[in-house]
Amino acid sequence: MSKNSLVSISDYSKEEILAILDSATGFEANPNRKTLDGKVVATLFFEPSTRTRLSFETAVIRLGGSIIGFSDAATSSSSKGETLNDTIHMVSCYADVIVMRHPLEGAARYAAEVSPVPIVNAGDGANQHPSQTLLDLYSIKKTQGTLENLNICLVGDLKYGRTVHSLIMAMSHFNPTFKFIAPEELKMPEEYKIFCRKHGIKYSEATELNNNFNDADILYMTRVQRERFQDLMEYERVKNVYTLKNKMLINSKLNLKILHPLPRVNEIDPDVDSNEKAYYFQQAQNGLYVRQAIISKVMGIKS
Ligand code: CP
Repeated sequence: MSKNSLVSISDYSKEEILAILDSATGFEANPNRKTLDGKVVATLFFEPSTRTRLSFETAVIRLGGSIIGFSDAATSSSSKGETLNDTIHMVSCYADVIVMRHPLEGAARYAAEVSPVPIVNAGDGANQHPSQTLLDLYSIKKTQGTLENLNICLVGDLKYGRTVHSLIMAMSHFNPTFKFIAPEELKMPEEYKIFCRKHGIKYSEATELNNNFNDADILYMTRVQRERFQDLMEYERVKNVYTLKNKMLINSKLNLKILHPLPRVNEIDPDVDSNEKAYYFQQAQNGLYVRQAIISKVMGIKS
């Protein structure tokens, strides 16, 4: 078992989180270094991805390392019945770090327990997406100048959206006030509300989007996670529940930034894209620098 894995954002202290953000600032200034020369990183994606996989791979290539892996589990021997234990065991014979996305909650923790090389969780079911959270924090700090005392609205699929679950845990270090906006079917799960109460995090809940984020510094939109629904009829009922439009931003704060982990479906109208409060594409770009910082940290390479 490797001690350097990143499975949950709660694996990192406040100081470690801030150190990653500092390191990412350095990578943003200079993303092309050869600190991973001779190193191999495996990306094992048992679920689809555009940003997470490609930004991790770009991060490694820009640092002079090499990439192996798969983007479709159907092309791996897991489709022939190979266990996750055996897959991790084999890939750790070839690679220095494994970045893995898997549909099962807890798969990354299990992989970290059996792997001799660090595992970076690139998303496990509806559970955690810690590298996304670190790039979200980087984006928040970059746009607001601080992580402390912010009003943050989380909108959409708060039940299955792993990015909001990780974000709540990370923000517990920075005295946020949350508003959870979701339809009844996709409300924030009780375990995360218990987490907020236990950590003294103020939160409120709402079902309407319009005029409910006028005091927000960050409006964090999320996609309804079709792939997590057992009942597709329920998905059909809630899939278009919120669409943010430009005209809804008129009374929002001047410093408001709109974040979204992406991909979006129709929860942000394209007419918002040209608004200076829209920050989701820059947020995705920030993922490159943050993932360079994460890979360097788990490999014990000074950046
Ligand atoms: N935000 C995110 O995880 O995007 P991908 O699914 O494209 O990796």
